[in-house]
Amino acid sequence: MAIYPPTNRVWWREPVAKIEIAWIVIAFVWGLVMFGTMVGWHIWGQQNLSNEAYRTTPEAYLAKAEAMAEKYTIGEEGDSGLPIVHPPAGSDVYLVARLWQWWPVLQLEKGKSYRLHLSSVDWQHGFSLVPTNINLQVHPGYEMVVTLTPTEAGSFGIVCNEFCGIGHHLMAGKIHVVEK
Ligand code: CUA
Repeated sequence: MAIYPPTNRVWWREPVAKIEIAWIVIAFVWGLVMFGTMVGWHIWGQQNLSNEAYRTTPEAYLAKAEAMAEKYTIGEEGDSGLPIVHPPAGSDVYLVARLWQWWPVLQLEKGKSYRLHLSSVDWQHGFSLVPTNINLQVHPGYEMVVTLTPTEAGSFGIVCNEFCGIGHHLMAGKIHVVEK
């Protein structure tokens, strides 16, 4: 408690103990290392989030997603009835977030890179890819692009991680990754 002034009024002229200087230096150097890591991760990191975003409208975005689905639908997901879309490897793929689904179900090939576009056509949603540690906010009016290269075959869940109303807990999607 600093209700009373310090007894030694010129405390800032006291010599600093060596051990304290040592800790200040360590903390400063560690701060630089952390800063360098932040920059380095963008260049050499394996899992970077989107740094690409465009203005769009729900109508324009939905039109692009529907055009992709119309061309490349290969079947229907059993439990949800959503179309399963297998776009060409390396292409732009579109995922629509809306109350309360991720549309469509994407089927991607292992080891191929895709430009995954994300946008909402109504409300704010959250794109959370299970079980990886990815969580992105998805806004209406903005189209984000994430470069994605699946490294494992299997079915991956997409969970909405932004509360979006009464059906929020039901808003789960799927990405299937197949070997080719
Ligand atoms: Cu969409 Cu919660």
